[in-house]
Amino acid sequence: MADTSDIHDQRLLIVDFGAQYTQLIARGVREAGVYCEIHPFDMPSAFISEFAPSGVILSGGPETVTEGDAPRIPDAVFALGVPVLGICYGMQAMAEQLGGTVEASSVREFGHAVIQLNSNSELLSAVDGGAGGELQVWMSHGDKVIDVPAGFIVTASTPSAPVASMECIEKRYYGVQFHPEVTHTQQGREILRKFARDICGCEGLWTPANIVEDAITHVRELVGETHVILGLSGGVDSSVVAALLSRAIGDQLTCVFVDNGLLRKNERSDVQRTFAPSNVLPLNLITVLAQDEFLDKLAGVEDPETKRKIIGNTFIDVFEREANKIPKVEWLAQGTIYPDVIESAASKYGKAHVIKSHHNVGGLPERMRLKLIEPLRDLFKDEVREIGMHLGLPRELVFRHPFPGPGLAVRVLGEVKKERVDVLREADAIYLEELRSADYYDKVGQAFAVLLPIKSVGVVGDARRYADVIALRAVETTDYMTARWAHLPYELIERISNRIINEIPGVSRVVYDVSNKPPATIEWE
Ligand code: XMP
Repeated sequence: MADTSDIHDQRLLIVDFGAQYTQLIARGVREAGVYCEIHPFDMPSAFISEFAPSGVILSGGPETVTEGDAPRIPDAVFALGVPVLGICYGMQAMAEQLGGTVEASSVREFGHAVIQLNSNSELLSAVDGGAGGELQVWMSHGDKVIDVPAGFIVTASTPSAPVASMECIEKRYYGVQFHPEVTHTQQGREILRKFARDICGCEGLWTPANIVEDAITHVRELVGETHVILGLSGGVDSSVVAALLSRAIGDQLTCVFVDNGLLRKNERSDVQRTFAPSNVLPLNLITVLAQDEFLDKLAGVEDPETKRKIIGNTFIDVFEREANKIPKVEWLAQGTIYPDVIESAASKYGKAHVIKSHHNVGGLPERMRLKLIEPLRDLFKDEVREIGMHLGLPRELVFRHPFPGPGLAVRVLGEVKKERVDVLREADAIYLEELRSADYYDKVGQAFAVLLPIKSVGVVGDARRYADVIALRAVETTDYMTARWAHLPYELIERISNRIINEIPGVSRVVYDVSNKPPATIEWE
């Protein structure tokens, strides 16, 4: 019998006006234990009423409400009769559409501000500053609300923003000019929690244990007696999918791990150990040794995009060959996560939101006539990690840096040859080992070595000879869309450089990459 209650039933709708912080709002709400989804402001009205949220949050955005073609809050939102919280642009749009006044301004207020709380706020009663207190907040706005709509009261102000927050208790509409979702706003998470839990009345069902139980139930209903196949890469997402599906359907799952010859040191043995039969997470694991097949196809190829295509297509060939050996396979499992879903939805509704995405195995389900099962589709990366820990995966795996599908091929610049991949693999292993032992691995978002396509002079004994150059890259980032080069200590870089040059024959020089993204990308190719 179908389950009548579902942890997705109590949910908030986040209307996205294009702010860079929208995903942080969703993560704040999820942290409060409440499920929510982000949808673009121009979503169809029928979708809003069908979605039937317990409350709505309107995000910030780059536009100006005082301009004629500015995005509007869909009328369907106000027709729901549920609490609505407008943040920054969301508050201005709410004020403008409900009869208040917004003043255009060419001067932006950007950064920390202190707001004076009035005694009358329901929303801000969650914070310790309390009645008549102050709160440190993060502001980022040009326009400001100067008159609130009828029925609203002003609940906080600053010298430059007379309406820093407003409320209409009767309708349960709330607006804040500042950004509660960013960490710079003191107790911002409490404000989102107050809205989601107390004002919208959601219970806090969104917990790792419930998410896992819910996913298991759904997967079982979906696949019945049939079989599922998964390409296990050893990365966080596919490993969590493997662990989850193994819990849900046991040996109806088969995982295929392809050694393409472009993996990091010990990667294959690590995966085999984690998912070994003697372990807590036993799996039907097929390991395919396809190093030669990949490297033969890459011979003579220098162009990075061509390398990516060859690797993607070869993976599909190898994977399909293995899948055809397994009877009754109807499903292909993939580790798609929520940010990927948001990106494709944004473009579906025609918003200008072009973000580089990497679909290494995009053609697989159509070609193999398999149905897709994506148990992490609702989850942010930090939720995937929490679930991974909950399922008993090792911490090193769960908090691993991302590794691109084409692997070391896009880090051996120029033509990919086995000898060169071997040099890079050793250098990369030394680098990561030193980062780990100096406690820097978890402090950076991604770190790796790159083998440059040039030789540089070095002195070995009395002889000068031309030898390889290794570049070290380490970046601080959480979204991988922008990144700052990591300021690793000089002593650490020196230790890594000495080890690489002393331990790897043929490398005579190590350089450190000091480029931010943008304009540089994280990878070199
Ligand atoms: P860039 O180089 O675009 O990288 O700044 C951003 C993030 O994406 C990863 N990346 C890839 N991942 N296939 C992947 O699966 C690819 O072709 C690819 N290229 C870049 C990169 O490692 C970083 O985490």
